[in-house]
Amino acid sequence: MRVLVSGGAGYIGSHTVVALVAAGHEVVVVDSFANSSPVVVGRLEALIGRELPVHAFDLTDKDKTEQLFASDRFDAVVHFAGLKAVGESVEQPLEYYENNLESTFSLLRAMRRHGCTLLVFSSSATVYGDAEPPYREDQALLSSSNPYGRTKVMIEQILRDVAAIDDTLQVAILRYFNPVGAHPSGTIGEDPQGTPNNLLPYVAQVAVGRRDRVAVFGGDYDTADGTCERDYIHVEDLAAGHVAALAHLRRALPAESSVDGKGARVHTWNLGTGRSTSVLAVIRAFAAASGRPVPFEIVGRRAGDMPRSWADASLAERELGWRATKTIDEMCADAWRWQAANPFGYGDA
Ligand code: NAD
Ligand code: WQD
Repeated sequence: MRVLVSGGAGYIGSHTVVALVAAGHEVVVVDSFANSSPVVVGRLEALIGRELPVHAFDLTDKDKTEQLFASDRFDAVVHFAGLKAVGESVEQPLEYYENNLESTFSLLRAMRRHGCTLLVFSSSATVYGDAEPPYREDQALLSSSNPYGRTKVMIEQILRDVAAIDDTLQVAILRYFNPVGAHPSGTIGEDPQGTPNNLLPYVAQVAVGRRDRVAVFGGDYDTADGTCERDYIHVEDLAAGHVAALAHLRRALPAESSVDGKGARVHTWNLGTGRSTSVLAVIRAFAAASGRPVPFEIVGRRAGDMPRSWADASLAERELGWRATKTIDEMCADAWRWQAANPFGYGDA
């Protein structure tokens, strides 16, 4: 298939570009580089062994999005583009609603106009709010606690509404748990701008000497070691989940959709491992993988944190034949290879 990857220069998008090409797809990237570096393009070309067509524009621009679809032909869109920092979304709600919703509207309009019928959307475990894990795709969603999370809840609903009136559209909503790790080559990885919000890149920056110590947010939770537990998933497993979802959508093209189980044209799958790891266990695993000390200090809880979160990942396994295989040790080893080779991320290039 010829696949448009929106946000393909970003962390998860870049790894998925590699997986899609390895699976035999032709990939075109669109990214504004609002939260990524153009340096990733050369790294991706080296990994995939061919030129990667990249369009640098903001998808909230409906005219440019329309022009792209008028000048090329896509069988599918994998839509990663979006702003994703929870704390920033509380400070800048309008920017988050505008960017994440408008970019999706632009893509949906252009797809409908140009007969592109397959869409894979990046959702998040944040849509489960503060429900008790394990999370199942069919449980009722409590509203997420922040504007970022609410953009995901809203976009999921919008996609269901649009699919309800467009019986050519096939949608996969993928709810990611905590993506970490990097490509085993160490040439692409997660490169947050400024202070990392997420645990793994913070730990990696401590190990490489860019930061003094990890502040562990809360040591008094009702968990095995008192720190929060999350379902960390290797970004390569996540990327493979997108390839599997796309293959499923193609198999379920409209003519066959009635034989596709319930005839559903909007599928929702959790992408997680079904296991959880505590903050302290992540720190220990990273110290072991890197051979570097990772000093930490237990500080107060972070507002809005859930004590624990993990996926019921059985639906994706049953319907997609996909399962995450990599361990937390492999996630840390690959994240460390990337961080050690690129202490300042793509800024080193
Ligand atoms: P990322 O910031 O690394 O990648 C997103 C990419 O989209 C960036 O390259 C950015 O420049 C681009 N982008 C943003 N707005 C755009 C716009 N309007 N037009 C064009 N390009 C735009 O983030 P990521 O971690 O790779 O996440 C990808 C997707 O997965 C996001 O939708 C995110 O919300 C979702 N997600 C991420 C996580 C996570 O922990 N990383 C978890 C769950 C869901
Ligand atoms: C993991 C654990 C922190 C940093 C977020 C978003 C979610 C999704 C994934 C996009 C928590 C603890 C963290 C630090 C710490 N993203 N921590 N010190 O909060 O599970 O999920 O990213 O959709 O929507 O909310 O991930 O990596 O921020 O935190 O102790 O410096 O690490 O308290 O327990 P989270 P995270």
